[in-house]
Amino acid sequence: MPELDGRVAIVTGSARGIGLEIARELTDAGASVAIVDLDEAEAARASTGLGGAERGYACNVSDPEACERMLAEVEEDLGSPYILVNNAGITRDNLLLRLGDDDWRRVLDVNLSGAFYLTRRVARGMMKRREGRIINIASVVGLTGNRGQANYAASKAGLIGLTKSVAQELASRGVLVNAVAPGFIQTEMTAALGEETRSALLDRIPLGRMGTPADVAGVVRFLAGPLASYVTGQVIVVDGGMVM
Ligand SMILES: NC(=O)c1ccc[n+]([C@@H]2O[C@H](COP(=O)([O-])OP(=O)(O)OC[C@H]3O[C@@H](n4cnc5c(N)ncnc54)[C@H](O)[C@@H]3O)[C@@H](O)[C@H]2O)c1
Repeated sequence: MPELDGRVAIVTGSARGIGLEIARELTDAGASVAIVDLDEAEAARASTGLGGAERGYACNVSDPEACERMLAEVEEDLGSPYILVNNAGITRDNLLLRLGDDDWRRVLDVNLSGAFYLTRRVARGMMKRREGRIINIASVVGLTGNRGQANYAASKAGLIGLTKSVAQELASRGVLVNAVAPGFIQTEMTAALGEETRSALLDRIPLGRMGTPADVAGVVRFLAGPLASYVTGQVIVVDGGMVM
């Protein structure tokens, strides 16, 4: 029997990219996965593509009321979540002096506050049931910082702080909370980078290639499953050795 048989998982930002691959991996592990993204039709398309329910869930994670509505719908349709993957994330890059208030706030709202709203909401049920897994998709730049990404790096460093704090609060109730910090992964988010930046980044990766969404999704599957039963409060870096 696959290791997550009968489990319900929620993956935000899963209509494409890393989130979609995480949803695929968790489905493969037997979980019923709720595909959550900004656009309901795209989320539904992704869900059907994985052979899951013919519905996706529209939710802008930076809106606490939308988070509440989406969670109530998922609970009604699929049941209580055992796994929450906070994957939805955006970039609005600029050098500090040109970084506007709006781009600062927007990135913090989606990448950090979104994870907080959803984590707070699912934590109660998980604590009561004395089981659950919360997995936050951070980034290596949350550990190292990055020129032109003060907002994004701050949001991901914040997510790591959220992960470790919540891991400490929920450990005695059997709920495990971890972060995955991907490096340079081939998705639409990185497709926009110029050739020069891309080759400079590749030079810094000991494994000599960009990562794939599947490289990240495999680690999420491990953290969601029984093999990770003694792992909490950790940041697992998935970057081909770029940061060590
Ligand atoms: N691609 C990389 O190299 C890389 C590296 C490190 C970390 N990450 C992180 O991995 C996660 C996924 O990145 P990706 O490369 O797949 O990005 P992507 O842009 O390809 O996909 C992100 C998905 O999130 C959705 N989304 C955006 N804002 C949302 C919101 N407010 N509410 C709900 N959904 C929203 C988008 O519609 C999209 O489907 C992000 O958190 C990103 O920061 C990516």
